Amino acid sequence: MLRGHRRAARLTLEQLAEASGVSARTLSDMERGRSRGPQHRTVTALADALALEGDSCKEFVELARDGRLRDHWTRPARLCELPRLVDDFAGRAAELAWVRELAHVEGAGVVGLVTGSGGMGKTTLAVRAAHTLRPSFPDGVFFVDLLGMSPNPAAATDALRLLLRALGVADEQIPADVAGRASVYRSVLRDRRALVVLDNAGSEEQVRPLLPGDGASRALITARRLLAGLEGVRRLALDPLSSPEATELLTGILGERAADQEPALDRLVQLCEGMPLALRIIGNRLVSRLGWDAAGLVARLADEEHRLDQFKAGDLKIATAFAMSYEQLAEDARRMFRRLAVVPSPDFDATLAGVVGEVPVEVAWDVLDELVDLGLLFDGPAGRYWFHDLVRLFARMRLEAEESPAEREALAAAVTSWLRT
Ligand SMILES: Nc1ncnc2c1ncn2[C@@H]1O[C@H](COP(=O)(O)OP(=O)(O)OP(=O)(O)O)[C@@H](O)[C@H]1O
Ligand SMILES: [Mg+2]
Repeated sequence: MLRGHRRAARLTLEQLAEASGVSARTLSDMERGRSRGPQHRTVTALADALALEGDSCKEFVELARDGRLRDHWTRPARLCELPRLVDDFAGRAAELAWVRELAHVEGAGVVGLVTGSGGMGKTTLAVRAAHTLRPSFPDGVFFVDLLGMSPNPAAATDALRLLLRALGVADEQIPADVAGRASVYRSVLRDRRALVVLDNAGSEEQVRPLLPGDGASRALITARRLLAGLEGVRRLALDPLSSPEATELLTGILGERAADQEPALDRLVQLCEGMPLALRIIGNRLVSRLGWDAAGLVARLADEEHRLDQFKAGDLKIATAFAMSYEQLAEDARRMFRRLAVVPSPDFDATLAGVVGEVPVEVAWDVLDELVDLGLLFDGPAGRYWFHDLVRLFARMRLEAEESPAEREALAAAVTSWLRT
């Protein structure tokens, strides 16, 4: 708990000692649970030094009074641990506040769902929020990747076994069937205050048994799909980063190397259109090679046709992120998606999508819904749909790979003639 706050405030033991006037030795003992019931004066000095406010401060003082400041992290390695925190997290203040609200709002079994397309930063946000919320969940913060977009999503029953073990339920007390497991799980959570992060949920069916029932425990789901069938969940749709946030992310990765590169960096930010994964890739490329500068990368990205190929750094690759969503689609939806890349206007409606996909407009509605559901398209008022630019390039790549030149020509002709009428 203490260490959690200290790390969240990015202070070393020595820095906290200096800021609070409590010796580093005492702090270290407190973090390891060797000191029970510190004096009130010590506790308030620490809360001040950690800049704790409101609920977090109250909770800190209460736990200290009960001698429970000991950190959960000092227990032996556990199952379902949170992934590492990125240290250059940028922006998302309103979204973090939304998750905090989820943790503190009154109510039983509150569940939050963060949705957004691949690479929009759902997992990063959830992990960041969960780390900062540790002090509010004395019974632990747990994380499971449900692999919802992979060809083999985790089965609810397996995820339940993992979570039950992480919650300390002995193997012999874990029922064999999913309903039994879900019921033990809910009863364990009801008596505690824990946060469960269910990352990358693929379907309602997969995630429903993993939601808490009554009590003060909370679940935070992330998903590319909207999971419209989930009832009573609080929803947050993750949009692209604003331009200042995107600049903050990129310059955060670049550090000193961002100096004097302004116009080129602005152009890179523009090309990424607020997608964190794209910004991360660009940033990593720039920092991983010494001789590279932003202007050089802008030049490489100038060519639209090969732009997507440039969006890779190590094992991070934009095209792979999109491909995972693409592969979730049925063949008719894939076909319409890739063919929509030829539409020259910034947005389009279902009628044009029907022309492109060679299907009646009612079918086009359904397919467009699915594309929006998976975050491959955005939709807006008046039945308009549009691509993120990088997604459009991906669609075009698929079109070129999967359809013959004759088919593409016929498609282009059909679109042109439709737009003229
Ligand atoms: N707010 C942020 N600050 C800094 N980096 C971020 C932020 N959000 C996302 N990133 C970076 O962008 C990349 C993609 O983010 P993340 O994996 O969270 O996306 P996602 O929405 O979970 O994608 P997927 O649907 O594929 O699971 C990561 O490399 C992450 O480090
Ligand atoms: Mg993710």
